[in-house]
Amino acid sequence: PKRRILVCGGGNGAHCLSTLAASQKNSKVHVLTLFQDEADRWTKLCEDSDVKLTITDLDGSQREQFAKPTLVTKDTEKAMCGVEIIFLVVPAFAHEQYFKAIEPHFQPNTLIVGLPGQAGFEFQCRSILGDKANTCTIASLESLPWACRILEFGRHAQILGAKDSLGISYIKGKTCKLPFPIVASIQDIIGTKPKIEEIQNYIAINLMAKSMVHPPILYGKWKNWDGKPLQNEPLFYQGIDEIQADLLSQVSDELIATGKKLEQVKEGIDMSQVMHIYDWYKTYYKDQITDKSCLMKAMQTNNAYDGLVHPMIKTEDGYVPNFNYRYTTEDIPFGLVVMKGIAEIAGVDTPVMDEIILWAQKKLGKEYIVGSKLSGKDVGTARAPQSFGLKTVDELFDT
Ligand code: NAI
Repeated sequence: PKRRILVCGGGNGAHCLSTLAASQKNSKVHVLTLFQDEADRWTKLCEDSDVKLTITDLDGSQREQFAKPTLVTKDTEKAMCGVEIIFLVVPAFAHEQYFKAIEPHFQPNTLIVGLPGQAGFEFQCRSILGDKANTCTIASLESLPWACRILEFGRHAQILGAKDSLGISYIKGKTCKLPFPIVASIQDIIGTKPKIEEIQNYIAINLMAKSMVHPPILYGKWKNWDGKPLQNEPLFYQGIDEIQADLLSQVSDELIATGKKLEQVKEGIDMSQVMHIYDWYKTYYKDQITDKSCLMKAMQTNNAYDGLVHPMIKTEDGYVPNFNYRYTTEDIPFGLVVMKGIAEIAGVDTPVMDEIILWAQKKLGKEYIVGSKLSGKDVGTARAPQSFGLKTVDELFDT
């Protein structure tokens, strides 16, 4: 029998994943997209042709695959019919809408995968699914497996160079009995690379979410900005200076300290996989970095980042930074604020994260923290564990 897969979303990642999955003989793929008229548009485009997926490997060689989902719809009931694996492949702010839509149609023994989960995925999913969460498995991957983009909506997408390895963690519900292996099944769908590596627990993967990278760089770059427009768009990663690299490194230290403290407080928990961002770069982009001598150099010389610039808005006088881009709108409420929440529960001070969140929340017109406490009026709209009633270390690990 064919494995039934549901891909939620209609953007870059959803195009790539659904085409990869549909090109396998043993799977049947549905796509659920609730956004605007994406489902109708994609359905029409699919009538007479497959989606073309161009895969560019790291050595520059290109392959093409042609396939299409059996169903693209906005109707959640139809989309959910018989599915065994559900992938959410949308920006984190859209997760809630999908969790709420699928909950009434949810069958036991389903695997639900955040690709990527982004921080707080499991807290939100478990809260919305309620008791049904005990009957399923909730997995999350630390990033998308590739850099990718749509070239023509509904018709052509591109994958640019898969990473070497990618972490996954999952929470298996108390009564969940999946009739297939978790990691091997996901690996089958995405292909041989990146190699999916299991991380011991979901809190570790929350502390490793890559949403921690952008805010320290933004803050370091713009905290003392004089407000004058720039004539060029500055490089984001490759333009990193010592101050920005140091902020990033210190945030990483605070996350590792949080992991260590949780290990001390809670017996049997292994957080050793929460690695420093510098070590992560050296592993993850092992063939793409030419100078690995320090974090700053590693980022400046990472080929995967060629040409990537700060989010900027073009004005008549030049470029000004865009502080309402996903590096803040997504990476603060679905990133640093979640990590801050976990650190607060662990009892670890995070002065550097606090400083960055305080700056970013002003730019976003939100209040998550007051001083060094997660007690701002907008905490409820972020995905910290506290927003879902989790307040103690035991509650974090009671899955
Ligand atoms: P995307 O930017 O292509 O997502 C857009 C899609 O999200 C839309 O097509 C729509 O289906 C949905 N959407 C947008 N606005 C919505 C709204 N207001 N309400 C409901 N749905 C809405 O996302 P992409 O590129 O597929 O990325 C998915 C996740 O992966 C993001 O968290 C991103 O940060 C992360 N990521 C993406 C990479 C890439 O190369 N594309 C690389 C690494 C991570």
